[in-house]
Amino acid sequence: MKQAMSSTTTQTVAVIGAGVIGLSCALKLQSLLSQQDHPAVEVLLVSREWPTSIPGAPPTHTADYASMWAGAHVRPIPGTTPQLRREARWLKRTVAEFARQLEAEPWVGITRCQGVEFLDAPSPAYTRQTAASFEEESGIRGYRVLGRDEVPDGVELGFEYPSFCLNAPLYCANLLRRFLARGGRTLQRDLRSEWEVFSLRPQVKFVVNASGTGFGDTKCFPTRGQTVITNFTQATKTVTKHNRDGSFSFIIPRFFQGGTIMGGTKEPGNWRTDIVPATRQRMIRGGQSLAPYAVEEGAGSATTKAADGELQVIADVVGRRPTRDGGMRIQVEEEQLTGTDGELRTGHVLHAYGAGGRGYEISWGIAEEVAEIAASLLPSLLETRSKL
Ligand SMILES: Cc1cc2nc3c(=O)[nH]c(=O)nc-3n(C[C@H](O)[C@H](O)[C@H](O)COP(=O)(O)OP(=O)(O)OC[C@H]3O[C@@H](n4cnc5c(N)ncnc54)[C@H](O)[C@@H]3O)c2cc1C
Ligand SMILES: *[C@@H]1O[C@H](CO)[C@@H](O)[C@H](O)[C@H]1NC(C)=O
Ligand SMILES: *[C@@H]1O[C@H](CO)[C@@H](O)[C@H](O)[C@H]1NC(C)=O
Repeated sequence: MKQAMSSTTTQTVAVIGAGVIGLSCALKLQSLLSQQDHPAVEVLLVSREWPTSIPGAPPTHTADYASMWAGAHVRPIPGTTPQLRREARWLKRTVAEFARQLEAEPWVGITRCQGVEFLDAPSPAYTRQTAASFEEESGIRGYRVLGRDEVPDGVELGFEYPSFCLNAPLYCANLLRRFLARGGRTLQRDLRSEWEVFSLRPQVKFVVNASGTGFGDTKCFPTRGQTVITNFTQATKTVTKHNRDGSFSFIIPRFFQGGTIMGGTKEPGNWRTDIVPATRQRMIRGGQSLAPYAVEEGAGSATTKAADGELQVIADVVGRRPTRDGGMRIQVEEEQLTGTDGELRTGHVLHAYGAGGRGYEISWGIAEEVAEIAASLLPSLLETRSKL
């Protein structure tokens, strides 16, 4: 009897979305609840898609599940707008957390690797960048401007810094594993609305909306990204070239046997999910020209091979970055709704979506901000049982 009672009164904090943002938020909420002495409150993760597969293996994921398709590297961008400065603060927090995670869980899917950038036509914000300003904004020490002989022809500014690459699907699967090991609950559901979550269980107290780009915010739109995963496994650095026409070429090693990514495109508002062959050719050529800069010195013969066209494409990738005008929305919304008991009450949803092309590198900063807001709200939303 006592058991039955307590199971119907289990209080729940729910997170919508099992992308890198939802998973990071769910883990932070678990820590928060145990710190706040609410170990009995369950964290429920509700999502349509889950980190299960890897590109090339069945079953696959839709283009909308951005977290499976990311590069994913850390590439700080000078904070020239309020949105970029906000993202820089999150990135700095994330860099610190990646370093900690890498120590504690070397298998989690994060690898330290050198980040190299080549700019054909650098903006003033880039030409002004110094080791000190770079460290101030990103927390990353070791920024160095490259000499003329270290950059391809036509490049006006080249620099490098210690960075991180993530094997995106592996990393998400490991976050999910940790969430489950700590007692997290999961539910596979294609939700019509974030408010639907309040009807899934009797005592849903709080919902985080980390659905990427879900329920009809007109500021949200997809930014299409096409890449290829290749067998150029000698790459140990991530290299990005900012071309004069605003396009990018990049190589991102996906460590832990994930191949190497060559890309890529950023196409706002483009809904195409099929592979565009001309883009594929351009990306492979771009990747091949960067290949010599992605390997350690002395690995020359391997790069000549890649540069000569001896590359195999393991998988073609099309993903949609969940983008939002003005950047990420982090905000609490309240609505009157009917609970499973038929009573009218106020539901609280905390929105955390719209990470665009930077979801990994800003993930822990966002999760911390979400946890801070939750920390101030939860004490009034959760019932503390009287200790009889
Ligand atoms: C080609 C490419 C390269 C990228 N490179 C990088 C990079 O180098 N570095 C970096 O930091 N970022 C990169 N990104 C961006 C990064 O992938 C995204 O910012 C990040 O994955 C967004 O995570 P998210 O959790 O917000 O959304 P998503 O990963 O899209 O997750 C959304 C979740 O919500 C669920 N969901 C949505 N709607 C519903 C519904 N109605 N009901 C139930 N569940 C729902 C989905 O199933 C999914 O689980 C790249 C993206 C692409 C496409
Ligand atoms: C919840 O998040 C989605 C994006 O994932 C957004 O489209 C929707 O508008 C949000 N809900 C509300 C009520 O704003
Ligand atoms: C990649 O595949 C090509 C074509 O099959 C092959 O020639 C090349 O040696 C492979 N590279 C690596 C690093 O395995």
